Amino acid sequence: MKASAPGKVILFGEHAVVFGKPAIAAAIDMRIEVDCTPSSITLFNGLPVAQTNTPHAYHALRLSGKSGAEISVRSDIPAGAGLGSSAALAAALTASLNPEMKESEIASTAYKIELLSQKRASPLDTSAVVHGHAIYVSAGGREGTLWSVGNEEVRWEVSHLDIRALPIVIGYTGVPAATGPLVLRVRKMWERFPTVRLAIEEIGTITEEAVKLLPTGDLTALGRLMERNQKLLSVIGVGSPVVDKLLDAVRPLCYGAKLTGAGGGGSIIALTDKQEKVMEAIRQKGGIPYSCSLGAEGIRRVHEVRHTD
Ligand code: PMV
Repeated sequence: MKASAPGKVILFGEHAVVFGKPAIAAAIDMRIEVDCTPSSITLFNGLPVAQTNTPHAYHALRLSGKSGAEISVRSDIPAGAGLGSSAALAAALTASLNPEMKESEIASTAYKIELLSQKRASPLDTSAVVHGHAIYVSAGGREGTLWSVGNEEVRWEVSHLDIRALPIVIGYTGVPAATGPLVLRVRKMWERFPTVRLAIEEIGTITEEAVKLLPTGDLTALGRLMERNQKLLSVIGVGSPVVDKLLDAVRPLCYGAKLTGAGGGGSIIALTDKQEKVMEAIRQKGGIPYSCSLGAEGIRRVHEVRHTD
């Protein structure tokens, strides 16, 4: 069965969400498509599956209880760009290997795969790509919880969020960054430095303000919150010169901008109604711009009739 999942951007709250603070993420119109065919051998795009080089496929298959599958994957989400390619892969693999699973089970299984593959994660990315549209994740919860997922420290509740079509441009720095080591670095800084703990608290407060502002469509106020969020991301040590280079270039042309995802490279998002100019500014600094619409559909299955003759 074929299944596809979108990528995502984190609008507010990355890293802080790992510590149980709220975060907001939205699905974007880039997708990954996975096709799994039962087989006695296991191949991932024609290559053998191993825990070391294809951890998502390895764990997805093991969790599904299937003995083997030929897996083919096609993606237009750049890998390591902070745009949810690994969460989308985990979700699409799960939906494809388990045709009977409903959304909430796909979300918790995809989260398990992310945890097993990258060691540390919140369910923010996997929930965003499974549900699609936009989501609010918090340890306190809100009315209308879709599902809750937890580890030994935090139990997160995921709810649907109505967002206006925010005019966002994505700028990929071209420098991929691995999420696991960055999450670990923040944890170590959180243990050592009270300023980092305060910054994490403050990011949570900003996200709470943002969730109230989103329905108003007040881009100026939302942009300001993005800028405050970005400063705090630098305080917790996930900024980088390549990210700053893109942010400095787009800032005069937008309401606000920040990195999105784990940081240390990856991508930025800019809230702007000067889309073309912002895209050009990103290009001039060596980045790759994407004009994206937010609120894409979540996990999608395609039932195929396979002809054997
Ligand atoms: O994998 P990325 O780059 O989309 O970042 C994930 C977001 C973090 O908050 C940094 C980690 C997590 O699991 O929530």
